[in-house]
Amino acid sequence: MVDTSQVICARADLVESVSGGKAIRFMMRRGVKNSQDLQKLSCFVVAFGGEIYAYVNKCPHRYTELDWLPGEVFDDEGLYLVCATHGAVFEVNSGLCADGPCKGLLLDKVQVCEVDNHVVLVDGFLLRENENNGDAS
Ligand code: FES
Repeated sequence: MVDTSQVICARADLVESVSGGKAIRFMMRRGVKNSQDLQKLSCFVVAFGGEIYAYVNKCPHRYTELDWLPGEVFDDEGLYLVCATHGAVFEVNSGLCADGPCKGLLLDKVQVCEVDNHVVLVDGFLLRENENNGDAS
């Protein structure tokens, strides 16, 4: 059964990157539930090679968001994630920076899974737009 409070999107909403797909952005909190230390994070999820991958939307170089327009995180061929600020290139499946100013560093991976044709957040608490300023419950 799907925990609807953790559903990011329908699996069908994620189009494969090589078919022109974009990332779907979401907000989450990570940490111990009801703790003051919950981190609010901007994240994204993508479809690549039949799998889904999610990362915190923060480049390990200067900590800016990767996308130049919301959800635009892929190179022209849909084979790598690219940071719009200085052009770092990341492997989609590992988040490893393969080239650019932060070569060898990793994007912060977010655990997601597919349940009943939904993309579900595993390792945090999903925030809806109207929850962005309050504590997740
Ligand atoms: S901030 Fe991403 S490459 Fe510089």
